[in-house]
Amino acid sequence: MTNTLDNPPIGLLTRKVVLITGASRGIGAAAARLFSREGATVVLAARTLAALESIVSEICASGGSADALALDLADPRSIRSAIDRVEVLHGRLDGAFNNGATGQREPGPLDTTSDEDIDEQFAVNFRSHWTAMTSEAALMRKGGGGAIVNTSSIGSRRANPALPAYGAMKRALNSITETAAVTWASQGIRVNGITPGGTSTEMMAAWEAATPGIIDRLTASIPIGRMAEPREVAEVAAWLLSDRAAMVTGAIIPVDGGSGA
Ligand SMILES: NC(=O)c1ccc[n+]([C@@H]2O[C@H](COP(=O)([O-])OP(=O)(O)OC[C@H]3O[C@@H](n4cnc5c(N)ncnc54)[C@H](OP(=O)(O)O)[C@@H]3O)[C@@H](O)[C@H]2O)c1
Repeated sequence: MTNTLDNPPIGLLTRKVVLITGASRGIGAAAARLFSREGATVVLAARTLAALESIVSEICASGGSADALALDLADPRSIRSAIDRVEVLHGRLDGAFNNGATGQREPGPLDTTSDEDIDEQFAVNFRSHWTAMTSEAALMRKGGGGAIVNTSSIGSRRANPALPAYGAMKRALNSITETAAVTWASQGIRVNGITPGGTSTEMMAAWEAATPGIIDRLTASIPIGRMAEPREVAEVAAWLLSDRAAMVTGAIIPVDGGSGA
């Protein structure tokens, strides 16, 4: 049967308001486009407003609904005011994809990792999730519940001599993801994490620039034989945010082409 504009297909995220951090490029930008195609009203957040606005224009031109918010994950006040802005714009929040993060400036070893790198990794890659999740959950509760997905990393799973501070903060993120899931389950809020493996984005390009050859070495360790495309990672987040994953909470799901198996 042919769908018409009066009878659009029901998407995974139809009628949901979803916030996406790290939406200016990479996995977050792919998620913004995908979630919109799946019917969500999306709110894109990152520091680079011009990049967000360009994606918002693209989504709106395709018939979607999107807004851009400037947000610095290093600053808890900025995170809280962005989520307050979502409430002003939409009055509710059904889903949050806490995906923004920064790569470690200097790769390991651990002996030479600087205090500045550790502080930045703590603020942007760990504390930001604590702040965001508690604010998001408060707004979700007003609407009867919601779903949160945090982007962790395959680098959280084992010892990480190459990116020790990044790996430690992503492991800590897995812990608060599970804790939040258990704490808020009875309030109708599901919380899950994803652990992407190597994914073709600027973060990976920056790591290659600092450690030449890392992309080839990582690719050789991926059973599927290639890096993920950003959209392939976003697909898993879309499902976790949807009602189709109603019984899934507290899970940390690999999206790594088999690397962690
Ligand atoms: N690519 C991989 O191989 C890989 C593997 C495992 C896990 N991951 C994880 O996947 C997620 C997305 O990474 P990606 O590969 O898409 O990286 P990316 O292309 O570098 O994008 C990172 C995003 O985070 C935002 N961001 C960085 N610092 C921020 C800050 N202080 N405040 C607000 N936003 C900030 C960036 O936007 P602005 O610069 O505009 O602020 C950008 O939108 C991250 O959590 C990353 O750790 C990636």
